[in-house]
Amino acid sequence: MAESAKINIDGKEIECPVVVSIEGEKAIDISKLRTTTGYITLDPGFGNTGSCKSAITYLDGEKGILRYRGIPIEQLAEYSSFVETSYLLIHGHLPTQSELDKFSLAFNEHSMIHEDMKNFFDAYPSTTHPMAILSAMICALSAYYPGLIKEDPTQEEFDRIAVQLLSKVRTITAFSYKKSIGEPFVYPRYDLRYVPNFLNMMFSSPTHPYKIVDEVAHALRVLLILHADHEQNCSTSSVRLVGSSHANLYASISAGICALWGPLHGGANQAVIEMLEMIHQDGDNVQKYIAKAKDKESSFRLMGFGHRVYRNFDPRAKIIKKCADDLLNKLGIHDPLLDLAKRLEEVALKDDYFVSRKLYPNVDFYSGIIYRAVGIPLNMFPVMFAIGRMPGWIAHWKEMMEDPSTKIGRPFQIYTGEAKHDYVPIEQRSYFHK
Ligand code: ACO
Repeated sequence: MAESAKINIDGKEIECPVVVSIEGEKAIDISKLRTTTGYITLDPGFGNTGSCKSAITYLDGEKGILRYRGIPIEQLAEYSSFVETSYLLIHGHLPTQSELDKFSLAFNEHSMIHEDMKNFFDAYPSTTHPMAILSAMICALSAYYPGLIKEDPTQEEFDRIAVQLLSKVRTITAFSYKKSIGEPFVYPRYDLRYVPNFLNMMFSSPTHPYKIVDEVAHALRVLLILHADHEQNCSTSSVRLVGSSHANLYASISAGICALWGPLHGGANQAVIEMLEMIHQDGDNVQKYIAKAKDKESSFRLMGFGHRVYRNFDPRAKIIKKCADDLLNKLGIHDPLLDLAKRLEEVALKDDYFVSRKLYPNVDFYSGIIYRAVGIPLNMFPVMFAIGRMPGWIAHWKEMMEDPSTKIGRPFQIYTGEAKHDYVPIEQRSYFHK
């Protein structure tokens, strides 16, 4: 196995160390390339670039493997709770019973938001996307808990911020939903676990107390766990990049929420349902939209399909598809969009365009079907993703801050603008009016 890679530049040979991951992936460490040769590497979209070393999540896109701290995602989805998985991601090991009890208790203690923060919800127009509210509110937490935003918190202080974020994000989400439908806020309860507590805040009202349905709580628990981390994706890299300037955890995560919002990332779960609704209204014409997705003249893409890393299948999508089937069966719901999604998948997976490009359903393809069945409004689907991703963002921010080799993130560029030319006085700038 190569221990170094040799690069020939301008007749000069440069030796770069090869770094091997514990699962055997190899990387060429080019960190000294620019200072020794003057060259940089160019890799738009970072398709070949490792930005850091990380011990949190392992994924193998060819084999469809995803593990948090070494534990297969399938086992966590089956046996773990979201709170326990959060502990695992943030602390690096499964908790003992007493660690878990302490961690869970802290969730209850930090579930409320400062009463003054409720005024924020009044300030947003009713048309505001809930991701805009969420990112602003998470950043605003730094104003309400300022003692916790110092650069170098102790372990105890950090744990408190982490739990606050994990717990309050649920309350903020539910309050923003209640505001949007003009109902009174429902406060968190001590006697309910993480997911039932969230469902109660979302769907209880003074006239109609919400009855927790176990199957619904189970499906949401599975979704949250499956979304909890995905190594250096767009939003997590954003959290790391912002945090690398020593911005506090709230600000860094607020940036991650904004990155997640985009339809090519976490906003895809909303975009998938919008696409399925459109195709359904157009007579379920699957072939027409498959053809459109393949047409390079059209900007239409099959949302919920394709992934930068998974080239075979997305293990999360497999679990979610089954979970959607089970939930709808148990609730006795027939959703024509689920049938349509399955037909789209079937047709696409036999089509050479998708096969040759290794495009498969991703985590977002079936998750929206579950959110719909639960009663979560469409524009809140990316918010559900953000609640799930919170422990991953926190774990990455912590790992980065604790790593002495961390530097401020600052990529280079290849300049393609004008070569140097002189300033022209305004009266001589006739070329502007040609
Ligand atoms: N529909 C149609 N064609 C697609 C799709 C799609 N969903 N995804 C990729 N392709 C095509 C591209 O047009 C390109 O074709 P070409 O080689 O002929 O030019 C090829 O497949 C490779 O696609 P890229 O865009 O280069 O792949 P990249 O890794 O940069 O993008 C992404 C990955 C953004 C996920 C892309 O597949 C996509 O846009 N999917 C739809 C949006 C989506 O579902 N996003 C959620 C991803 S999961 C997550 O972030 C949580």
